[in-house]
Amino acid sequence: MITIKDKQFDLFIPHEQINERVSKLAEELNADYQGKTPILIALLNGAFVFAADLVRKLRFDHEIQFTKYSSYDGMNTTGKVKELIGLPIDIKDKDVIVVEDIIDTGTTMSELIPLLKSKGPKSLEIATLLMKPGKLAVNIDVKYCAMNIPNEFIVGYGLDYDGVGRNYKSIYVVKE
Ligand code: IMP
Ligand code: MG
Repeated sequence: MITIKDKQFDLFIPHEQINERVSKLAEELNADYQGKTPILIALLNGAFVFAADLVRKLRFDHEIQFTKYSSYDGMNTTGKVKELIGLPIDIKDKDVIVVEDIIDTGTTMSELIPLLKSKGPKSLEIATLLMKPGKLAVNIDVKYCAMNIPNEFIVGYGLDYDGVGRNYKSIYVVKE
């Protein structure tokens, strides 16, 4: 058990298991992107740990860029997405893979995907570490997902509680 600020969290997904699932997802990408040079767009801050582990398992040439949107406030989604850091490159006619830590309500993705599609990429897919299918409020097409989880608040492996806890190697779930 760990304590972050006012909350306690139990071990939920040990690092070894995360590593196995990330390897599996990387193998799917290795099969699908052989001979292509896609641009990975990782969403800050949460996806930085996943993205760093993922790219080191990829065996095709690719670029990586970072962008930042915000929809979360403490433990509750605000339902509003703000662009905090925009994309510094042209993705027209490029194969694009959006790398996300977790898809919760799907609000972030449902706003970001049309915005990226309007820039004319050749292809656009989502690769997410985690998904909470029970909370998904919009229809989004997620081709690559390492793990599905129930509707619980989690921290670690890049995910935070109120800005803290991203450094834990494993994923922890909040104790009710
Ligand atoms: P969505 O827009 O509701 O899909 O929320 C997506 C974003 O909310 C993710 O990129 C995370 O940064 C954050 N988020 C969602 N669920 C959790 C969680 O359980 N722990 C920490 N952050 C979360
Ligand atoms: Mg995020």
